[in-house]
Amino acid sequence: MNLQSHQSFSLWIVIIVIGLLSCDQNEDHKPNTKLIPYPTNLSQADKYSDIEQIKFDSDDVKSLDFSPQYFKEAIDATEGTKKETNVRISVDNKLSQGAYVLEIKNKNFDISYGDRGGFFNALSSVKQLLFLNDGKLPLVKIEDSPKYSYRGMHLDVSRHMFTLEEVKKYIDYLSFYKYNYFHWHLTDDQGWRIEIKKYPKIQEIAAFRNETLVGHYNDEPHQYDNTPYGGFYTQEEIKELVAYANQRGIEVIPEIDIPGHCAALIAAYPELSCHKNQIETATKWGIFEDVLCPTEETFEFLENVFNEVIALFPSNYIHIGGDECPKVQWEESDFCQQLMKEKNLNDELQLQSYFIQRIEKYLQSKNKNIIGWDEILEGGISNTATIMSWRGDEGGLEAASHGNNVIMTPTSYCYFDYYQSEDPDEPLAIGGQLSVEKVYNWNILPKGIKKNEEKYILGAQGNLWSEYIKTFKDLEYMSLARMITLSEILWGKNEKDSTLFWDRLSEHSTRWIDKEVNIAYHLLELKTDFEAVPNQGVFINCSTLLKGTNLKLTTPENKQVQLKTDQAFQLKEKGKYLINSIKDNLVGKTKQFDFYPHKGNLASIELINKPKEKYSGNGPTSLINGIIGSNERYGGAEWFGYEGEDFKAILSFQNPTYIDSISFKFFKGEGQWIYLPSEINVYKIDKNDKQQLIANSNKITTTEKIGHVVIKIEESKIDRILIEVKNFGEIPKGNQGAGYNSWLFMDEIIIE
Ligand code: ACM
Repeated sequence: MNLQSHQSFSLWIVIIVIGLLSCDQNEDHKPNTKLIPYPTNLSQADKYSDIEQIKFDSDDVKSLDFSPQYFKEAIDATEGTKKETNVRISVDNKLSQGAYVLEIKNKNFDISYGDRGGFFNALSSVKQLLFLNDGKLPLVKIEDSPKYSYRGMHLDVSRHMFTLEEVKKYIDYLSFYKYNYFHWHLTDDQGWRIEIKKYPKIQEIAAFRNETLVGHYNDEPHQYDNTPYGGFYTQEEIKELVAYANQRGIEVIPEIDIPGHCAALIAAYPELSCHKNQIETATKWGIFEDVLCPTEETFEFLENVFNEVIALFPSNYIHIGGDECPKVQWEESDFCQQLMKEKNLNDELQLQSYFIQRIEKYLQSKNKNIIGWDEILEGGISNTATIMSWRGDEGGLEAASHGNNVIMTPTSYCYFDYYQSEDPDEPLAIGGQLSVEKVYNWNILPKGIKKNEEKYILGAQGNLWSEYIKTFKDLEYMSLARMITLSEILWGKNEKDSTLFWDRLSEHSTRWIDKEVNIAYHLLELKTDFEAVPNQGVFINCSTLLKGTNLKLTTPENKQVQLKTDQAFQLKEKGKYLINSIKDNLVGKTKQFDFYPHKGNLASIELINKPKEKYSGNGPTSLINGIIGSNERYGGAEWFGYEGEDFKAILSFQNPTYIDSISFKFFKGEGQWIYLPSEINVYKIDKNDKQQLIANSNKITTTEKIGHVVIKIEESKIDRILIEVKNFGEIPKGNQGAGYNSWLFMDEIIIE
């Protein structure tokens, strides 16, 4: 779906919503306190204050380095003298980090806080109250404190860049939802975006690429737009952004990603690589083998770069990346092999640790601490580095077990460049599925962490990689709904509050849409669960996140059925079904699906090898429920994913069943490490559990994204079969992910 169409979808919701809001207000004038994240304690009188203008004491404004401009859109706020002020600000040393007490009275309000972060959290609450009450302030008392001290959002400006004004707007959203860190991913293979005065070729060469990949990386052959792309933020602009963020309670952490993800830098300065060949700034996505060589010349270069970075960013943290650094060039380099001998390093992973720790020592000498992606654990880490655990929980668990601080940012819950809906009309995204519901149900603490190590988990961060996010409208669409939801989790959600949370998110979303913000609204999206019940058939269950939604199903024969939430309805007719969701005046997008009945619907399925938890559909019957995974994407409710492992399952039929063929759907996306299987075997199992091979398909090939493999069965009457689908195995050299295990993605096993 192109941007134009999701903008018009937003507008279409707006018109309905304006009606809804004005209705509400005519009914009663009860103040709206639907804050996100919801405060620890909130009490309200059902009345508004008389405050029409907020006047801060100018001494407070100066000492807190804060600008009343912060309120510019909601209400006129100014500086005044002590006498005129109607905001009383005081420090309360008993309050914990980030905590505050806010009391809005008839003519004035009081804020007390323990640290500067607490003060900004109080201001964000005031700002939200104004947003929710059309510029009025309700009488409330709020006592509030966050659960986690690190509440971060990231933005990649390498793959696509955003103007300084747009980055400021992003900061405004972060501050509004009580985030306190902005992780600015300034460098990558596709462009360096920070001015480094000592090295002008960074601005001339590394900041630009000749063209950009068009469409999805998985679409082959790759197409390019033939248009140069690039730019960088000047040091003056960066200082302006850092000051702007600081005045909104946000600390900016710059990321200079080394030693991998450095193709753009090497394009400008080939001498920093081991091969020293001239290369170009990358024009497509992925991982590149051109990495920095650990020579003295490289370290001197990087120290000079960091000297300029340090002067721009007052944060105690510098993020040095460390992710996805292929070791091929180090393996082939005589210099690296000699260095490893001299330094007693056993392998290239230890060489990476040597690289990172040298930079860390340098930064520590300048009073900075490093953050790195979880790969920096691989060859051993210092005890002072903070780890961003992105490949799952494991990095976080390991780092915490060493006593290192951790920021959780696992792909499955924190990568806001993933699809947020299974709607086939969603704008092109990198892959995966991450709905607001999944974010909301996330527990930040890594599974299995020891109680006494929980203290090392500082918090979490949402990441916004911009390969497929080209404009600020795209950025709003992909980030906002999930960012707002993550803010609730970081603050310490009330476990019993989910219904209220979806109502609050709906309220915020519709208000943003009203302001022409391109937030994704998926709260009325139909969640459909298709369950194959052995010997009975397939049943659909529908719901939406909002309570009290009316659901209507239209069958292929055009029968209309009113569905109740979570009431199972049996699918019988083959063909296209439509479902609608309506809540008050809001109408959700019609969802359609095709039901393809087959004999497997009546079987029971027992998995011998379990898929990766994050790619396990809606349970094993997703594989035989007559609903076939999307043509465009893996992930979601239907797809099963195995990393390096084979699929193995037994299908049992209550009555002996004639089978002519078994067919399979596989996803093929080699750029994302997803390969077709190498072979399929089908075994008949007799009453004595003896297995007999009855069909085999070896060497599976197709150029299609969805591989459809049909196996004819000679032996026709069957009680039980064992199906074995062999994983392709290790990814061959010269491909994305070479040397790693490939993924196998499959849905559906069609039995006819
Ligand atoms: C990452 O996503 N490469 C940290």
